[in-house]
Amino acid sequence: MPEDPPIRPIAARQPPPGVDRLGPAIAGLAGVLRGLAASEGVREAALRAVIGNSRTLRDAAAVLRLVRPRLTLRQNLVRCYPADGTLIVTRADDVAEVLAREAEFEVVYGPRMRALTGGCDFFLGLQDGPEYRRGRAAVDSLVDPQDLGRVTAMARAEALAAVDRARAEAGAEREAEGGAARIDLVPALSARIPARMACEWFGISATPAQLIADSTILFFYLFSDLGADPRVEAGALAAAERTRAAIRASMAGAGPETLIGRAMARGQGAGAAPDPDSLVASLLGLVIGAIPTLSKAACLAVQELLRWPGQLAAARAAAQAGDEAALAPFLWEALRFNPMTPFLYRRTPRPTRLGTEEVPAGRMVLAVLLSAMHDGAAVPEPERFRTDRPWEAYRLWGEGLHRCWGDAVNRALLPAMLAPLIACEGLAEAGPPEGGGTPFFRSYPLRFAA
Ligand code: HEM
Repeated sequence: MPEDPPIRPIAARQPPPGVDRLGPAIAGLAGVLRGLAASEGVREAALRAVIGNSRTLRDAAAVLRLVRPRLTLRQNLVRCYPADGTLIVTRADDVAEVLAREAEFEVVYGPRMRALTGGCDFFLGLQDGPEYRRGRAAVDSLVDPQDLGRVTAMARAEALAAVDRARAEAGAEREAEGGAARIDLVPALSARIPARMACEWFGISATPAQLIADSTILFFYLFSDLGADPRVEAGALAAAERTRAAIRASMAGAGPETLIGRAMARGQGAGAAPDPDSLVASLLGLVIGAIPTLSKAACLAVQELLRWPGQLAAARAAAQAGDEAALAPFLWEALRFNPMTPFLYRRTPRPTRLGTEEVPAGRMVLAVLLSAMHDGAAVPEPERFRTDRPWEAYRLWGEGLHRCWGDAVNRALLPAMLAPLIACEGLAEAGPPEGGGTPFFRSYPLRFAA
């Protein structure tokens, strides 16, 4: 493949997307705006439909970047956190600036985070400062350099076993299934592996199934409950209580290979005893951050790869060669088209400016990461699937101060957990992904040649 010029994170604006893309893009945006102008229920349904469909969101964002890259709406689109109107930013430079200027564009999660922890702060809900740094350093200090290798080996083994099981079951039912193996990606693999990680590395004694169910509603409540649904809140508060109890109950027996075990050992050795409430809050934050995210990202990466048969074949070759490093860029590129976190939101604590735009205090600011990753001013040939992009082209798990704590985990685990499946010939959907009314997949049936 010919060498491309290096990708500049922020550069002079290039021509807008091709005219052929503008037709569907305008139609997509018109649908969104119609929904936003309609009554509450319709508005939420429209918003969910847009967010849930990366293609529609990409189309809408392409138009916004061109005609209104800083779009102000009277409505607060994120009702679970109070705000006065919404500013949607879609250009790569604006998105980067909003996430970099964390003192002027603050995270909003604090109140819901404290409701879940029982009153303690977790660093994702805090602005930069001594408390944020203490919280993050406390969690960092529990990690051993060997941990990532062990967790990745577990993921690899579990993924291989899941694919082998599906193959063996297909062998048993060969007549009925016409030779195809079937696997439900979520329970068999994408949610199960991070849940096992929470048990075996974090040190939480609970069943993977319980951790998956609870972490999913907790994540929904904290980050995706755009309509502030009281049923989501009730479910999340109950899940938080269960998860806190499981973490607390794990403190006595957690082994030295676990984060909880290491924290507890400090109290008995030279180090200071951990404050149990802070430890529970930290572990709760990790569980919420780790399970639904890795699970959905794995599903979205597979879903997107299935839309690019040529790329899938090349990814399969890398996976069949057991080369996770060669497989990885296919996954990052698939997620650039179909990301787990298409946008982040922040709120202005006081009036500020973004370029020429005056932004009043209390405004919700949507930084559309998906759009930034498709902005031709920052990413060459944004509509092409290219596996030679530098890592800086990707904004898959946040930017700036709050950039994902699990960055290295994600980069190691996603290729390890997906390689055995992507290596299979004839991989295809056996049904659509299904979330049971939530934005998180509970089931994603796939088939492959047994
Ligand atoms: C592909 C999977 C993942 C995705 C898409 C993802 C996404 C994100 C995003 C977007 C943020 C920033 C939120 C914001 O700025 O508002 C974040 C932060 C965070 N993530 Fe992840 N995450 C993933 C996996 C993980 C894992 C595996 C862990 C734990 C092992 C984790 C723990 C955290 C924590 C603790 C933060 C807060 C960082 C801070 O405030 O400094 N995440 N993640």
